[in-house]
Amino acid sequence: MLPRLSGNATIVILTGAGISRESGLETFRDPDGIWARVRIEDVATPEAFRRNPKLVHEFYNARRRGLLDPAVQPNPAHHALVALERRWPGRVLVVTQNIDDLHDRAGQTNLIHMHGELLKIFCAHCRTEQECRGDLSVEDICPHCQRKGGLRPDVVWFGEMPYRMEEIGEALRDADLFLSIGTSGNVYPAAGFVAEASAAGAHTVELNLEPSSGATLFDQAIHGPASALVPAFVAELLGDRATA
Ligand code: APR
Repeated sequence: MLPRLSGNATIVILTGAGISRESGLETFRDPDGIWARVRIEDVATPEAFRRNPKLVHEFYNARRRGLLDPAVQPNPAHHALVALERRWPGRVLVVTQNIDDLHDRAGQTNLIHMHGELLKIFCAHCRTEQECRGDLSVEDICPHCQRKGGLRPDVVWFGEMPYRMEEIGEALRDADLFLSIGTSGNVYPAAGFVAEASAAGAHTVELNLEPSSGATLFDQAIHGPASALVPAFVAELLGDRATA
């Protein structure tokens, strides 16, 4: 049972690949996930990019094309989180590990992409960022510094620092409710957020297809597909809000 949240309660929501699964995007560690067919060391580290940038570009080009497939759209779980933000303005923060833009397309505004964004790139030489909705290659020249070979996906690779960790830490310390949706809880620092929120006194809930690695750390764990669980959970929350 959810605790009654006061009118100025804050909610921090961590999402992972599972929230986008029913939109048609792959997860990473499920049996049919990305890491079941591609090695992290070959495509998702700075060393991989130095060693074989062509392979890394091919990996992200394929994922970018997949994301831009018209069949890939936000699902009811993404839309439910937007409804929560709109009914509880200024009190809801979504921190996503996902590099897809489904939360953005659904209309989420208070949103942090802690692992970067697939539709953005930057130049390793001059650090200039830009949008990218096509394929990238080692031949591409940075439009800013005119140098070749530096353009890379704006994605946080293993061994690199996730984005906006200060803001995330502050939000976790201030949270009254922490939700974790569609993540296996295997990758830090995100996997440590539940402990931080709990230590700050937040009520913590896991909404996932199956128990994650950190399931026992949560006050509540509800299992099933996100597109069913999240709208139902938000409806219950807003129902409380309506009477608060
Ligand atoms: N609804 C809810 N949860 C689901 C669904 C679904 N339809 N389908 C799968 N899941 C759950 C799985 O049970 C699993 O626990 O989503 C979780 C996905 O876990 P991972 O594949 O490990 O993805 P994630 O936790 O987001 O990975 C974290 O690891 O490889 C890095 O940078 C990458 O951001 C990624 C990070």
